[in-house]
Amino acid sequence: MAKDINEIQGGPDHVAIIMDGNGRWATQRGRPRLLGHHAGARRVREMVEACPDFGVKYLTIFAFSTENWKRTQSEVAGLMKLFRRYIERETKALFKDGVRVRFIGDRQKLDDKLVSLMDNLELYTSGNDKVHLTIALNYGGRDEVTRAAQRLAFEVEQGRLSHKDVDAETLAKFLDTRFLPDPDLVIRTSGEARISNFLLWQSAYAEYEFVDTLWPDFTAEEFGKILSNYGNRERRFGAVSV
Ligand code: FPP
Repeated sequence: MAKDINEIQGGPDHVAIIMDGNGRWATQRGRPRLLGHHAGARRVREMVEACPDFGVKYLTIFAFSTENWKRTQSEVAGLMKLFRRYIERETKALFKDGVRVRFIGDRQKLDDKLVSLMDNLELYTSGNDKVHLTIALNYGGRDEVTRAAQRLAFEVEQGRLSHKDVDAETLAKFLDTRFLPDPDLVIRTSGEARISNFLLWQSAYAEYEFVDTLWPDFTAEEFGKILSNYGNRERRFGAVSV
């Protein structure tokens, strides 16, 4: 399967995924929602491992949004514990697989232990270049643009930047994603057709794919099929076809 996908020209370099449906997956089985998140975490590994075969250089995943704090205290605590454990357990394998991991989102609200694990993982994998995995944690698109605007305003206030130099390119340099190309394709699982504040600025010209599969059931094979469909699409970035 991987071979076929590789033969497709013009596949996406950067795929972003909204991993939705963990809770429903668990509820359907009469199990606690957290079990669904654990099953979802296992799929993360599968997708990361599939990326090189599919020619995907950048994978960005939505792990926790700025709105997810509204969930029950026990679900939030369980998710935070899962992120800590994920980093502790996966660091070696990610490194060995040549994965460079980075995080986007506001770290200020996250606990110190988690932030230190995130910092260490970023540093430890900083020399890797095979796959760039970006994990959005306490991330919201509006929050990101707001924080970027604050930093930009501060630079103007300090006289290091003129307001006349503020254009889209300058603003993008203040975003959490400044090290990333824009996503070519955004996938959302679980049948919801919303973007839920994910990569609002960066996805201006992205293709979207909404699939019914719940995230813990999403396989590398389904991922491959979506990528293969993408290869047949034409992106015009606002221009007309030639
Ligand atoms: C959405 O499903 C999913 C989340 C809020 C958490 C995503 C987290 C993971 C997949 C866990 C692992 C991630 C990493 C990076 C280790 P939902 O709970 O909203 O599902 P529902 O819509 O069915 O309730």
